[in-house]
Amino acid sequence: MWNLQTALAILGTLCLTSISGYKNGKVEKSCESMMPEHHSQPNTTASPYTLTVNASKFSPGDNIRVTLSGSEHFEGFLIQARDATNLDGPAIGSFTLVDPEISQRLTCNSIEVRIGSAVSHTSNAKKTEIQVIWKAPSKAPPTVQFLATVLAHYKIFWLKLPGPVISQGDVTPAPSQSTTFTSEGCGTSKSCLIDPVSCNPSVDTNCFFLSYSTLGQTVSFELSGPAQGYVSFALSKDKWMGDDDAYLCINDEGRVSVEAAHTTGRTYPEVSSKSVLTDVGWRVSDGVIQCKFSRSIYTPQDPVRFSLNNSYYLFVAHGTAEYGMIHRHTWQPLISSHHQIITGPPEILTGSRSPLLMKYHGALMLIAWMLAGSTGKLMAAYFKPDWPEQTLFGQKIWFQVCFYTVRVYINVVYTVMLLFQLMSGSEAGAHPYLGCTVMILAFCQPIMAAFRPAPDSSRRWIFNWLHWGVGNAAEIIAVVSMFFGIRQQSLLLPYPWTTGVLSAFVVWTIVLKLVLKLHKHDVIRKGLYQQFEVKNILLIYLFLTSIQLSVQMFM
Ligand SMILES: *[C@@H]1O[C@H](CO)[C@@H](O)[C@H](O)[C@H]1NC(C)=O
Ligand SMILES: *[C@@H]1O[C@H](CO)[C@@H](O)[C@H](O)[C@H]1NC(C)=O
Ligand SMILES: *[C@@H]1O[C@H](CO)[C@@H](O)[C@H](O)[C@H]1NC(C)=O
Repeated sequence: MWNLQTALAILGTLCLTSISGYKNGKVEKSCESMMPEHHSQPNTTASPYTLTVNASKFSPGDNIRVTLSGSEHFEGFLIQARDATNLDGPAIGSFTLVDPEISQRLTCNSIEVRIGSAVSHTSNAKKTEIQVIWKAPSKAPPTVQFLATVLAHYKIFWLKLPGPVISQGDVTPAPSQSTTFTSEGCGTSKSCLIDPVSCNPSVDTNCFFLSYSTLGQTVSFELSGPAQGYVSFALSKDKWMGDDDAYLCINDEGRVSVEAAHTTGRTYPEVSSKSVLTDVGWRVSDGVIQCKFSRSIYTPQDPVRFSLNNSYYLFVAHGTAEYGMIHRHTWQPLISSHHQIITGPPEILTGSRSPLLMKYHGALMLIAWMLAGSTGKLMAAYFKPDWPEQTLFGQKIWFQVCFYTVRVYINVVYTVMLLFQLMSGSEAGAHPYLGCTVMILAFCQPIMAAFRPAPDSSRRWIFNWLHWGVGNAAEIIAVVSMFFGIRQQSLLLPYPWTTGVLSAFVVWTIVLKLVLKLHKHDVIRKGLYQQFEVKNILLIYLFLTSIQLSVQMFM
């Protein structure tokens, strides 16, 4: 009897203390487990409460504002910061109060007494938001996560709700447990820039994806794409690079650092030292880098950042990185087709990687080479006898066909090429140099021809050989240059398919030349078929293949 009474009395006292402990917030007993002593199970449904912080990075001694807010009321709370890699470990750092009426500091760690290593409520008054300041200790782990137990009402509570992870200096938070990015909701709940068109990053590893959505004063960005080193995007006032507000997600041996940077033309982007990015998370899997972060629309603390209420073009770039330093992208960036207000209504944006001018250049060069370089030359060489005396505007037709195509070839196409090179300065490798060499050689040809010695001169053979040599050299270099040209990443041609097609065309031209040469020198019996017809059929065929190939490659 006595035993039962004592037991009941002790139980009663325990219950009373824990209930009063809950009401006045003196919940030191819960320091380690963060579990309220209510003898009930924590609620496992999605909680209506969120923890946010005003920085993603910290240094020892920094103050970080931690906000617990809810779409529903709560009565009690317990907030701590712990080592993000050891969430069962001791509380870290110390809190100071913003509103001592509704919050109080608790002394949690028994081993190393730190006043204020946790905060809790002071009464069970209903509230929807609480702010406290967390001060980073001098010795802190690289990543720290905030945790909160929130009591909606006596028996309804959520245990150890995971809050934001912040990191020291250059260290980036651990991968977010968030679900993979998806293109679902693009155009309705968020704006997206996707390449290739309508791919979905949740199933397609070959998908470049940028989405952003505005909630209140913050904009959340999600960026994902297949890349070895980094993926990045930039807000730009124009379609050219330079003076852009850039955001980089750099993979450094499995860890991703998420940085805001400012690009100034062609130099390495200046990484911002001010932390304006919050709620940072990342994931690396299957060669895909994913990262997300939030940013407020206006960032007066970092004036270099663009305000997101304005209209910008979006660039998405990717490339390789080494020791966390990015290399210049070898691919042309994806550029949105038009500019958009970031905080504007959700929209699906399309983009293009290759400036149209570059495509025109490619198509023109290919057509020019195929028609003027091959067909034109073949006509000049082998069809001269067919129209020996026919004239148009007083000049022989074969002469006109040959030299006018060559002239168009030189004037129009090379001008376009040079303009393009000047404007873009893209890293095109050997292609522009080879192209220039061809151009110089091609200019030499008519000049040499103009000053050639008379047909009966004793030095005529020098000219003949020189003319032949320079012509062939130009053609060979042109072919090599084309192979370099079509491999340029920015054209997004389906390499190696295009190289195969071009090789086939080159072989076909060589075979055709050989056949015509043999034909001309009577090796193939002329009597077998009508010489004129065979040549014409070959010519028309070559002409059609040229056009078809050029169009197919670039459309
Ligand atoms: C969780 O909380 C909601 C109220 O927000 C309540 O309706 C529900 O029954 C709770 N679930 C559990 C398992 O406690
Ligand atoms: C976060 O808030 C605290 C307290 O208001 C302030 O001292 C600190 O500078 C803020 N940090 C940033 C990055 O805004
Ligand atoms: C964006 O906000 C700034 C500062 O409030 C304002 O000056 C500017 O006019 C706004 N731009 C747009 C497009 O609303």
